[in-house]
Amino acid sequence: MQVFSISGGKELRGIVDVGGSKNSALSLLAAVVLSEGEIVLHNVPHISDTRLKTRLLENFGAKVQWDGNSVAIDCSKLSNAAVEEDLVRSIRTSFFLLGPLLARLGTVSLPAPGGCQIGARPVDFHLQGLHQLGGNIEYSAGVYRASTQGFHGAEMYLKTPSPGATQHLMTSAVLAKGCTVIQNAAMEPEVTTLASFLNAMGARIEGAGTSRITITGVESLSGTEFNVPADRMQASTYLIAGAITKGDVTVRNVLPETQIPVINHLRETGADVDEGHDWVRVSAQGRLRGTRVRTLPYPGFPTDVQQPMAALLAVCQGTSIIEETVYESRIGHIQELNRMGANIELPHAQTSIINGVERLQGTTVQATDLRAGAALVLAGLAAEGETVVRNIHHIDRGYEKLEATLIGLGGRIERVNLPENGFSKADPIS
Ligand code: EPU
Repeated sequence: MQVFSISGGKELRGIVDVGGSKNSALSLLAAVVLSEGEIVLHNVPHISDTRLKTRLLENFGAKVQWDGNSVAIDCSKLSNAAVEEDLVRSIRTSFFLLGPLLARLGTVSLPAPGGCQIGARPVDFHLQGLHQLGGNIEYSAGVYRASTQGFHGAEMYLKTPSPGATQHLMTSAVLAKGCTVIQNAAMEPEVTTLASFLNAMGARIEGAGTSRITITGVESLSGTEFNVPADRMQASTYLIAGAITKGDVTVRNVLPETQIPVINHLRETGADVDEGHDWVRVSAQGRLRGTRVRTLPYPGFPTDVQQPMAALLAVCQGTSIIEETVYESRIGHIQELNRMGANIELPHAQTSIINGVERLQGTTVQATDLRAGAALVLAGLAAEGETVVRNIHHIDRGYEKLEATLIGLGGRIERVNLPENGFSKADPIS
């Protein structure tokens, strides 16, 4: 088993060039199946989720060629083969392939998806939308079996603006006959990126980034080259790393408008934040102040930054409150932060009350999901003594070169193999 061993208490200082977005890359890696031409994606993060997703594409007959952070994909010959169930279950966005594959192949079987355990994460909006487009989908014994005589345009309304459902249905409608409208669509930057990618392939999508998206069906899509934008969650994580260690961190290659809620909350804690055209800088001296956070769909405070933010608030002065409104139980970090000496109460699974403590103490903690893992790494960087974070495969799902980046900022973090009887150095996972 690999773990992170972190010696805390060092201020992080320096510049981070933020890599490609996990969530954008995963959506693009579903949309690629719509085109028979070659797609080349650049700036794709080399993380376990993108590697699994490309392996899944290979299960369906795609030819995939990785070259550093670029990946060339040829989906000219797809087939509805049996897929590795473990592969599908290990990433939630495997499900985003159902609609595009159905549009392309007419029939498809796909085991139910997996992903982080942070709430119920239903897929009812996806299923309803695909049904409206003309898909017949049956679910039995953990497998979705879908068929269609051909997709046609439809008027859809999402009960909540789900990024996943918006992206899945927008992609599925691209080759449908006629016009599809998605009302109460998610406005996340990943939706806009996906629409730009599909339009570059020849799709006709308007309104992405607003709550009403219109997709006018086209006959076919061509190949294209596309650059995955920077990961806004990683950017926020590194900004919080600067604040929690009372350091000075600049993230580059990011769009500051995607950081607005995080920037504002960091300012409320008393951290200094500057921003430019494509960078944001955070520095902090002394103890910061607690604040109140409420997660919301974009452009509200992102649920994916809630757990890293909790690590910071755990050492801020005064009482902070975090209200999680997107997921039912994104709370895996709380028990572990409390093991490190935090004082966090959970009167309700969606509300945490954080009574700030002067400092955290290093100990052994477990990552229960991706962002909980990131929160524990941040806590470890600020804590006194050594923190060992176990279950780091969760963190490897979403943070490329995490330890190299933190070491570059002066952090003391090491990936080690944990055999039964002690530590030994590990080969870093790229
Ligand atoms: N929802 C439904 N029914 C559906 C779909 C969603 O009720 O059919 C609800 C969910 O219950 C939840 C909300 O909509 O309350 C949002 O969940 P959703 O399923 O839409 O999330 P997602 O699109 O699968 C993406 C990101 C998540 C991020 C959320 C919210 C990817 C691969 N994942 O998930 O990222 O938390 O949007 O912003 O894009 C992460 O990176 O750590 C992560 C979990």
